Amino acid sequence: MENVLKEIFEELPFRGEVKFNEPLSGHTSLRIGGPAQVLVFPEDVVSLKNVLIMAKEQGIQVFIIGAGTNLLVRDSGIKGIVISLKELRKIAVIQPQRRKTLLGSTESVTLFVEAGVPLRELINFTKENGYSGIEELAGIPGTLGGAIYMNAGSFGREIKDVLAGIAVMNMDGKITVLEKGELKFSYRGCSIPEDSVILSANIVLKKDSPQDVGKHIKGFLGKRMNTQPVGEHSAGCVFKNPEGDSAGRLIDMAGCKGMRIGDVEVSSLHGNFFINRGRATSEDFIKLMEAVLAKVKEHSGIALEPEIRII
Ligand code: EPU
Repeated sequence: MENVLKEIFEELPFRGEVKFNEPLSGHTSLRIGGPAQVLVFPEDVVSLKNVLIMAKEQGIQVFIIGAGTNLLVRDSGIKGIVISLKELRKIAVIQPQRRKTLLGSTESVTLFVEAGVPLRELINFTKENGYSGIEELAGIPGTLGGAIYMNAGSFGREIKDVLAGIAVMNMDGKITVLEKGELKFSYRGCSIPEDSVILSANIVLKKDSPQDVGKHIKGFLGKRMNTQPVGEHSAGCVFKNPEGDSAGRLIDMAGCKGMRIGDVEVSSLHGNFFINRGRATSEDFIKLMEAVLAKVKEHSGIALEPEIRII
């Protein structure tokens, strides 16, 4: 099969890196995951389209990943083509706007941001240019595409709050532009059409001084550093918060902090983060999820639901 795939890719008009039998542990923040039959990094949307169409014609399954930060890949790996959008990473200012209101004038700016742009890079861009609106999201790992797909949020702000619209591509390579009003967002979810890939988004921010934006970002980053194991190998929060409560708090109350299976450990800083302490496997991770679920259920009667995506 590997040779067949190699031949197919030799013929395919495609710009970007192509890796065969590539361990995904090197491409996920958890550092867990078996090999992908093929892992590709398209550098433009036409190359992405060509892979999608080829995969459909050949009946090969496709998995889209961003920065692999909210993701648990099983040790058995992925049969099919994994597409990382990491190389679609353009940010452009498309429209500064001044609006007069009763309270004076406010200036907004619309940014075009490609799906693979790391949130960290976008936040830095807003800091350098003094664009306000997503300071709360500072410190969330992952790409913009992933953040939209999950409707990432933190400190009361969600990515949907600044979104004007997105461009998506379906498995036939057809691009559709969707205005915000055509999308439904929920807590950690977005109704993008099934089997489509987020290519880019337009986001609207407010013009502010770089100093103020920088100050806000620093504040939120500081809060996060105090309450979350930033910098450790994790996949962010493992479980969704049940309505009106915090999964981390429930895990903590159930006495799960520090629980460990193999090399996966429940963070002692925040119960909803599981850390890879070395050579963790997906099996250990899933076992620990089940053990924590059972303890929380026993302690508080609440059945937590996973937030991370398991493939
Ligand atoms: N708490 C504990 N023990 C813990 C963790 C939290 O007692 O181990 C308590 C805190 O003291 C606080 C309350 O629970 O009183 C809420 O904790 P926190 O402010 O840390 O927020 P969270 O509800 O646990 C959510 C999001 C995070 C986001 C933070 C900050 C989810 C599942 N979690 O956590 O998002 O960064 O708020 O806004 O929605 C993520 O989605 O991956 C994620 C990390």
